[in-house]
Amino acid sequence: MLQHDVIIVGGGLAGCQAALEIKRKNPYIDVGLVAKTHPIRSHSVAAQGGIAASLNNVDPEDSWEAHAFDTVKGSDYLADQDAVEILTKEAPNVIIELEHLGVLFSRLEDGRIAQRAFGGHSHNRACYASDKTGHAILHELVNNLRKNGVKIYDEWYVMELILENNEAKGVVMYNIRDLTLEIVQAKTVMFATGGYGRVFNTTSNDYASTGDGLAMCALAGLPLEDMEFVQFHPTGLYPVGVLISEAVRGEGAYLRNSEGERFMERYAPKQMELAPRDITSRAITLEIRAGRGINLDGTAGGIFVHLDLRHMGKEKIMSRVPFCWEEAHRLLGIDAVNDPMPVRPTAHYSMGGIPVTTKGQVRKSATEVVEGFFAAGECACVSVHGANRLGSNSLLECVVYGKVTGGAIADYVLGRQFPVFNPQDYLNKAEKRINNLLKKEGNLRINEVRQGFQDCMTDHCGVFRVEKVMKEGLERLQELKQQAQQIYVDDKDTCFNTELIEALELQSLMMVGELILTSALNRQESRGAHSREDYPDRNDQTFLNHSLAYYNENGIKIQYMPVVINRFEPKERKY
Ligand code: FUM
Repeated sequence: MLQHDVIIVGGGLAGCQAALEIKRKNPYIDVGLVAKTHPIRSHSVAAQGGIAASLNNVDPEDSWEAHAFDTVKGSDYLADQDAVEILTKEAPNVIIELEHLGVLFSRLEDGRIAQRAFGGHSHNRACYASDKTGHAILHELVNNLRKNGVKIYDEWYVMELILENNEAKGVVMYNIRDLTLEIVQAKTVMFATGGYGRVFNTTSNDYASTGDGLAMCALAGLPLEDMEFVQFHPTGLYPVGVLISEAVRGEGAYLRNSEGERFMERYAPKQMELAPRDITSRAITLEIRAGRGINLDGTAGGIFVHLDLRHMGKEKIMSRVPFCWEEAHRLLGIDAVNDPMPVRPTAHYSMGGIPVTTKGQVRKSATEVVEGFFAAGECACVSVHGANRLGSNSLLECVVYGKVTGGAIADYVLGRQFPVFNPQDYLNKAEKRINNLLKKEGNLRINEVRQGFQDCMTDHCGVFRVEKVMKEGLERLQELKQQAQQIYVDDKDTCFNTELIEALELQSLMMVGELILTSALNRQESRGAHSREDYPDRNDQTFLNHSLAYYNENGIKIQYMPVVINRFEPKERKY
């Protein structure tokens, strides 16, 4: 059995930042970090457009209060305002710390960090490194992990959270290189396992974003918060779904329909292309539904709209958003200097997740916490994004709450002993689960079931939702769960068996999908990214509350938890 004072699951921004903060506060704390890819390949590396902070480098009028207000308004008033205050107050400090760590931010003429416009923000406050901001930050953090003596387990798959009597005691994991199983005993466990974009058939997320951490919590009997709030980014490159950064619109690009109109004028006349993502994704979907989408031959009636950069000019495109230009060129052969890009909404981000306090400690219910268990980043719900996240606030959340959580763990772990449990029981259970999958004599390939599931989620719980369709989705999901019993794994090898990982991930995806659908069905109102055609209005009286969904083999139970409102009273959102 392996032992660490702290084991962090997830090698993206939140996990790395937490590990570094623990080491900064107390270098003697023994920290292990485990990730199913190499940390450098975590999905944070794909974040493009920016990280928000009221640095006032471009816009002297900005303040943390303005940033907080934009965030709360963007969240459709579901964000917890105490958590938002921490996020926005800390933002300028973490940017300076990242700069001191060596992150290569883009610069203004006078050498200060440049800041650009982003959707839903009232000031230019997104700091950036061209359109590879996540890449620039993650590289520095990972380099520093090694320097600070964090033990990295890269390419290990964590299968189970060891949770007994409301206390996290460690994790069960296996080495993807050779299928060796290990138990890690830890005084504190932290999850920073990222999102679940692969629940949907079109996503900006990488192949590893399968919601494993969320599924492990749900299986352990813990609640998941606000799972109905899924962010669809307006500009996924059609047909692949990869991200074309909001920074492209922040730098001046237009959205146009088949008639060449800048249609955002109808939906957000003031903010236009820089309206928050929920509004922009709905606008694109409505244009497509109204027959003003575009086909590949340029005729009307298709399923994408155009993102038009041509008026920006080559110099600006190549200096500010070169990676987006490259994506369209490499994947579709489009030169965005001369031609518009085809885009449509793509599943991008999970506003909900593992409920945590503002110190990052996992909640067991609205009033109780779990001992020895913390979470941060996209897998967690603190909740700073409420019903709709503003672009450039997710990197910020990872860095701020990675740091806050790491700091809290450094204090917390000093008072803890190594927990007692029987590792053999967990090894036996994991071995059985793996052998069952490897020996299964099913007749369906994993991909067939996964594709059916992803199509089901996209068709039944997408940008717009309605009761009848969601109920049909849940029925279809039950059929797909039966089908998942019939899968077989061709590859029986122990070395880099990626098919086995896919089989395990399919279980995570389906559990997360059921939690999303059930939470969405229960929320009978429209708020932020959760848009119900049968309940088009926001209903603060009943639903100005977070949902907590508890998974159980016999069904999912939903409870509700109050929102923290201490500064901004809920109002109608207008842009
Ligand atoms: O559009 C983007 O560059 C994405 C940023 C974000 O999700 O925060």
